[in-house]
Amino acid sequence: MKRIIVTGGLGQIGSELVPFLRNKYGKENVIVADIRKPENVDEIEPFITLDVRNEEAIISAIKENDVDAMYHLAAILSAKGEENPQLAFDVNIKGLYAVLEAGRKTGLERIMIPSSIAAFGPETPKDNTPNDTILKPRTMYGISKVTGELLALYYWEKYGLDVRGVRYPGIISWKAPPGGGTTDYAVEIFYYALKGEKYTCFLREDATLPMMYMPDAIKAITMLADAPAENLVHRADFNIAAMSFSPKELVEEIRKYVDFEVEYKPDYRQKIADSWPRSIDDSAARKEWGWNPDYNMASMVKDMVKNLKKKLGL
Ligand SMILES: NC(=O)c1ccc[n+]([C@@H]2O[C@H](COP(=O)([O-])OP(=O)(O)OC[C@H]3O[C@@H](n4cnc5c(N)ncnc54)[C@H](O)[C@@H]3O)[C@@H](O)[C@H]2O)c1
Repeated sequence: MKRIIVTGGLGQIGSELVPFLRNKYGKENVIVADIRKPENVDEIEPFITLDVRNEEAIISAIKENDVDAMYHLAAILSAKGEENPQLAFDVNIKGLYAVLEAGRKTGLERIMIPSSIAAFGPETPKDNTPNDTILKPRTMYGISKVTGELLALYYWEKYGLDVRGVRYPGIISWKAPPGGGTTDYAVEIFYYALKGEKYTCFLREDATLPMMYMPDAIKAITMLADAPAENLVHRADFNIAAMSFSPKELVEEIRKYVDFEVEYKPDYRQKIADSWPRSIDDSAARKEWGWNPDYNMASMVKDMVKNLKKKLGL
């Protein structure tokens, strides 16, 4: 991997993955691609506008920029996807197909595609969810993630296209806002807490879900990208885990730093959360590429409070 394109590179994960990759491979060798143009485009360069549903445009971007690898992050997330399932199908499934075909036709060395705990469904065991288990999601987002996992395996076995990915849990970060997922509360709540404002949580206080702090999310996908192919039994369906907590437990941890009021008003997102695991067995990732997380809930909250206070000038 020498010249990398990051689709959806302006999103929550891209905003932190891109600086990491640029540090490693050189700024000019990591091209940010997104459907929207950033205000500060000069700072983001090299940047291109790209709709991942357009295979021809992806092929041109790969050829013109002499790209040999891709992190494909462009997607419509779980909550947004349930508001507009047709758009989620279009971007997440047709867009992925366009990316895989473009990768196959141009001979990309590697494509990284994040999956999600949304690949699981109500029939999946909820605690210590195994890597290889029942995948019957009921959201369009989850369906698109299972499709991606299966297509990754198919393109590898049929064409030798090396597509890999992890099943991310909810990602917590302070640099860029989350993009419309079911675990967004775990980021929003910090802004309210630190400003001393009341927070209305859209999940129940006991809705325990697997979560991960952004530095670990970046570590996971880049470690997997660099793992020797011969060590991998799985492809784009690796469970990874770091912590699990409920809104109530997160509130208690944040209250060690600031006091604030919380009210619980579960909405349609609670139903999505109800279909997801509480905790994850990540032993396959540990065994096949040496995965281990650095942050638990306490160290994540400490770091979030420190960085967000600085960001908000508090
Ligand atoms: N953030 C999480 O908690 C989380 C959890 C599990 C999995 N993931 C996965 O990680 C990946 C990145 O997620 P994220 O949180 O950064 O998402 P995000 O919503 O923050 O960013 C997605 C980006 O994709 C762009 N985009 C949307 N449609 C596009 C299109 N047609 N063409 C090009 N770009 C388009 C958006 O403008 C946005 O910048 C996704 O595959 C997502 O499913 C994220």
